[in-house]
Amino acid sequence: MSVYLVTGGAGFIGSNFIRYILDKDQDARVINFDKLTYAGNLDNLKPIENDPRYSLVHGDIADEKAVLSVFEQRVDYVVNFAAETHVDRAIGEPAVFINTDIVGTYILLECARKFEIKRFIQISTDEVYGSIDHGAADENYPLMPRNPYAAGKAGADRLAYSYYATYDLPVIITRCSNNFGPYQHPEKLVPLFVTNALDDKELPLYGDGKNIRDWIYVTDHCRAVDFLIGAGTAGEVYNIAGSNMRRNIEITEAVLSSLEKPRALIKYVKDRPGHDRRYSLSAEKLARLGWRPQGDFESKLARTIEWYAQNRWWWEKIKKGKFEEYYNKQYVQRPAEKQPRR
Ligand code: NAD
Ligand code: TYD
Repeated sequence: MSVYLVTGGAGFIGSNFIRYILDKDQDARVINFDKLTYAGNLDNLKPIENDPRYSLVHGDIADEKAVLSVFEQRVDYVVNFAAETHVDRAIGEPAVFINTDIVGTYILLECARKFEIKRFIQISTDEVYGSIDHGAADENYPLMPRNPYAAGKAGADRLAYSYYATYDLPVIITRCSNNFGPYQHPEKLVPLFVTNALDDKELPLYGDGKNIRDWIYVTDHCRAVDFLIGAGTAGEVYNIAGSNMRRNIEITEAVLSSLEKPRALIKYVKDRPGHDRRYSLSAEKLARLGWRPQGDFESKLARTIEWYAQNRWWWEKIKKGKFEEYYNKQYVQRPAEKQPRR
């Protein structure tokens, strides 16, 4: 039996990972430790909520007492997905990003080193490299994060490494590219544009729409993390990429054409401050270990669009609730006012 402590397991990737692991390994036990912020959604776990191999602990990774009490049970693998994740929110309110993404990771590492664990997977991101004008970043590329989310994740990434170097904690760091798939919060590009298009609402495209992201299907990310738990070496960093580089306008057009909606729904809006132009990863290191994503991008995007079309029950309540309040705030459109000098 293997016991996984999955933090942030009620979010998009964490919930996909929990369902993936329980499906794959009959002997697995999963403890989901989640603060249930606006992004944590127990609907994501409905298919397994009554599975006796699964349990939920409602807690904050920055709360040492709560984290310690989980480690006092048996834990073999820690997979730290818990984070504040939306760049636009980080622009308006960075404090919670610093607290969860850096301080929370620190508390988790501190607690983990007091116990015998087999692996601590720190889920980092390709955003730590910053904008990559040419070529592709390998794991030795300089870290140049350019927004408070990316900078917080870079801090956590290096802090996790320091616990390997200093305390011999068996840490592996993964840096994945942009994910898409079912159960992604509709504040992010793909689900926002799919659900807006389904409702004949405008698709707010930032700047000139030519920013490039490298897209990976969420299940491929989950498979890669699972693969690295077994095949990765402690102290190492691994990029995980779908190797599907697309301009945002290309994603937008693909969504519209798949749903047979008009291009007139595209609304070019003011750019995100500090908007990274291009992300591009080399995933050669992972490929050398024998792992690659499966299938083609177009069919995974089509499957994702279909999922949102078939699961209005999941996203309509999110978009009707506090999301509307957030959306109207629009940090990107209206960054904080400067205070007048006294
Ligand atoms: P998400 O925003 O959908 O989910 C985050 C989850 O973390 C939520 O369930 C939330 O309740 C929980 N959480 C937040 N603060 C917490 C705290 N203090 N204590 C415990 N739980 C807390 O995020 P996601 O898109 O699923 O991303 C998961 C991880 O993967 C993050 O670490 C993110 O940086 C990383 N990542 C994401 C992408 C992507 O494209 N989404 C790409 C690369 C890496
Ligand atoms: P996002 O899903 O927020 O992911 P990230 O910022 O982590 O890459 O955004 C993906 C891309 O889509 C990014 O270049 C910003 C752009 N974008 C828009 O053009 N409009 C939007 O409403 C959103 C949310 C994102």
